[in-house]
Order: sequence, then structure tokens, then C-alpha cells
Amino acid sequence: MRVPFLDLTAQYNEVKSEIDAAIAEIFATSAFVLGKWNRKLEDDLARLHRVKHAIAVNSGTDALRIMMQACDIGPGDEVITTAFTFVASVEVVVQLGATPVFVDIEEDTFNIDPSKIEDAITPRTKAILPIHLFGQLVNVKEIARIAEEHHLTVLEDAAQAIANHHDGVYAGNWGKAAGLSFYVTKNLGAAGDGGMILTNDDEVDRRSRSLRIHGMGRERYYYDEVGYTSRMSEVQAAVLAIKLQRLEAWNKRRGEVAQIYLDALKNEDVGLPVTSPDNNNTWHQLTIRHPRRDDLMAFLKENQIDSGIYYPVPLHLHEPYRPFAGGPAWRGLPVTEKVSNECLSLPVHQHLSDEQAAYAAMKVAEFCRSATSVR
Ligand SMILES: Cc1ncc(COP(=O)(O)O)c(C=O)c1O
Repeated sequence: MRVPFLDLTAQYNEVKSEIDAAIAEIFATSAFVLGKWNRKLEDDLARLHRVKHAIAVNSGTDALRIMMQACDIGPGDEVITTAFTFVASVEVVVQLGATPVFVDIEEDTFNIDPSKIEDAITPRTKAILPIHLFGQLVNVKEIARIAEEHHLTVLEDAAQAIANHHDGVYAGNWGKAAGLSFYVTKNLGAAGDGGMILTNDDEVDRRSRSLRIHGMGRERYYYDEVGYTSRMSEVQAAVLAIKLQRLEAWNKRRGEVAQIYLDALKNEDVGLPVTSPDNNNTWHQLTIRHPRRDDLMAFLKENQIDSGIYYPVPLHLHEPYRPFAGGPAWRGLPVTEKVSNECLSLPVHQHLSDEQAAYAAMKVAEFCRSATSVR
């Protein structure tokens, strides 16, 4: 039995007739950018996340960059975040001239460890950038408490956290702004790149809308600040708005698939992901930990089961980001480094059958038992 990591063809086939009709209409009317599909997507996402404003942009990376600029992150500012993430989270901080300050993560949720944050605060700290990894929020209440006490801005990297909430309060409401990604492989994936800024702040909304069109003000060809070209195409907005109607059902199925793995592996010698209390989990990734991760991956491959490593090398060990590790206050990132060596993400999408998930889980269990017996 083959267990694929993703099945984009099956996803397309579910929505093909609606998407094909929408694209035909876009070409027939030549309304290619920032039109009715953009407005629909923005409205639908603002409603889903219960925020006042949603601003569509070209990618998740642009969402983060533009919202940070709209929140005045710039040279001289320090932004506290983690190194166990996709590079974009930190890349944009550096591009804006600010300094990322890395703190360690929790081993079983992969998210920022709030108990490590206060040690990293200096007079230059301007913001905390929690990254809601793999489909659940970080410990948002603790982050909010720390931010309030130290007068810091919270900016959420919600690239992997569409439809995620804590205690019923959705991403985008825990900080001044949040950025979603619609990259192809996300729970809500475009036919290419796309992103969205979520905010309750009118000024962040106004500046973000301006920044996505070169910093243009209310009057055409008059500019308020240096901006970007980051309009979302109508084709992407239509694909996303149509798929968004399926998201709840797709996420529910992901949850069922995840539960098959969790039940099958609960008594095995393997690190399972933990969902924090009062969080929902949308299972963007189902990531386990094993000290012989590379052997496990090879064993699964031999058995036709795909898997992926998110993320193999933490950011502070990559050349461009080394300068942000070290210094007198540096305490190292032991959990981040251990997890990077041990993490393995298993197929968990909505188009897997129960049999495929059970087979993949059985093979993981088989490997864990043989690995334990030779230890
Ligand atoms: C945690 C995280 N931050 C930022 C991004 C950047 O999003 P994009 O690829 O849409 O630019 C991604 C996704 O790729 C991500 O997973």
C-alpha cells in the first residue's frame, strides 16, 4: 500500500467544477487583481477568525513583512522568536533591519517555551513573534501576559494556523496582527502563493492595504511610504475562497486520520505530539520524535510510506542567521537542536483512508519496537 504525503489531485478533483467556472469567468471579464474574489476571501477569513480586518497579499512571507512594517518594526528593534521554523518567519525580521532573538521551544508541542522569554528581554525588545507551528497555537495566554507586563507588541506567525483557536479565540486576536500562508501544501492551499494579514487595528489595516500596492495612499500614484508589489490575483483568491468552504470538513478528516496514528502509537517508544489544553489542532503536520529518525524515514520509504522533516536544521545554524546566535546572554537552544535531529512528519491529509493511516502507523510501531530491542 502506498501512503502519499499529500494528494493535490484529489483535492482539485473535489472542487474542480467550481474552480474551472470561476477561472473561466475571471478570464472572460479580465478582472485579474483585487476584485470580487479578493473581497470575498477577505470577508470570509475575517469572519472565520473573528477579526475586524483581513488583507490579502501575495504570500505568507509578504503578510509577515508587511504587517511588521505596519507595526513599525525596524532597525534597532529586537524581536523574540524561535529558530525551529520555516525561514520566512525570521527572514522578514532581518529584511526590515531588526534583530531576531532566538529562544528555545517545548519538546512536545514544538512551540516557543514561554518560560524562556523573559530572560531574552532587553531594553531594545520591541515585539514577540510567536510561531503557531504544525496546526495549533502557542501558549498564547502566557505570551499575552509577558507582553503586557513588558509593554511588547505581539505579532503572530499564523502561516500554519488557519482556523486555530485557544479557548475559542482565534489566531489574529492574540496579537496586533497575524500572517496566514496559503502556500500549496497548507491546509488551505492556493495554486501557487498567497497570504493574508489579520488584524483588529484600523491603522495596521490602512497601512497594510497601502503597503501591498507600493505604499500608495488614497490618491492614485501618490505614495505614503516605501512599499511592495503584493496584490493577490483573482485566480488565487477564487481558488482559496472555493476551497475555504471545504476547510472545516477537511480539517475534521485530518483530525480523524491523526487520531488513528495517536491511538496506534500511544504505547510505543516514540515521542508523540501533544495538543495543549483548550487548543484545537488542525494537524497541519503530525510530527513524531525518534532518536533514529533517519533510519525510521528510510524504513518507511522502503514500505512506500512518505514522510518529511520539518525542520532538519534550525535557523541559528544556517550561515545568514549565525550572527543572531551567541553573545553574553546566549543560553543555547538545546531543545530546538535535539528536536531538529529527531522530528519526522507523517502523512496526515484529508484524502488518506483509515487503512492507509493504520498501515503507516503499524509500520512506525514495527520500527520503534525493533529499534528499542537493539538499544
Ligand atoms: C511558519 C511559517 N512562516 C512563514 C511561512 C511563509 O509563507 P509563504 O511560503 O506563503 O511565503 C511559512 C510557509 O511557508 C511557514 O510555514
